[in-house]
Amino acid sequence: METRPARRQDASAIASIYNQGIEDRLATFEARPHSAAEVEAWFDESHPIIVVEADDRVVAYAATFSYRPRDYYRGVADFSVYVDRDFRLQGAGRMAMEALVHAARQAGLWKLVSRIFVENLGSRHLLASLSFREVGVYERHARLDGEWRNVVIVERLL
Ligand SMILES: CC(C)(COP(=O)(O)OP(=O)(O)OC[C@H]1O[C@@H](n2cnc3c(N)ncnc32)[C@H](O)[C@@H]1OP(=O)(O)O)[C@@H](O)C(=O)NCCC(=O)NCCS
Repeated sequence: METRPARRQDASAIASIYNQGIEDRLATFEARPHSAAEVEAWFDESHPIIVVEADDRVVAYAATFSYRPRDYYRGVADFSVYVDRDFRLQGAGRMAMEALVHAARQAGLWKLVSRIFVENLGSRHLLASLSFREVGVYERHARLDGEWRNVVIVERLL
């Protein structure tokens, strides 16, 4: 497996992987499938996106997003990481995140943050092993399928 910066042409593959994560109901409050066009809108000048390829096929991605529009938060980015179901537990998530941390630092970002469902032990384990700190728990932060869910805030200084 290899990592590289994502291109707009990867949007369809990224959307397929994201939609698997949405279906699994363990990774995000998003409940409806996303289109390639919606993923294309993630691409901007200042927020790196990484893909992991195996045999020329995109099998995972990690992406940064604007955290807040305020200028003084320009160095803080939200992030997420998703691996194709058929390629989980093979190191792709770790590779994607290591490359994302490197790219984010190169892009001048100073912090990555995210919110992880408390029950998402795989993601929490991966991020803790990459020096992300669990800041605390947002209780009943939003509803997924009508159920209030708690999320762990994670951060890593770059
Ligand atoms: C969470 C996710 C990104 C992990 O990626 P991955 O490629 O499967 O994980 P890796 O193979 O890189 O494993 C990294 C570490 O996490 C552990 N891990 C990963 N998934 C795990 C799981 N479901 N349960 C327990 N441990 C898990 C691995 O054992 C490994 O630990 P180690 O290095 O101590 O041996 C992936 O399972 C996924 O895409 N899940 C759905 C989307 C999601 O939850 N994204 C995170 C929210 S943004």
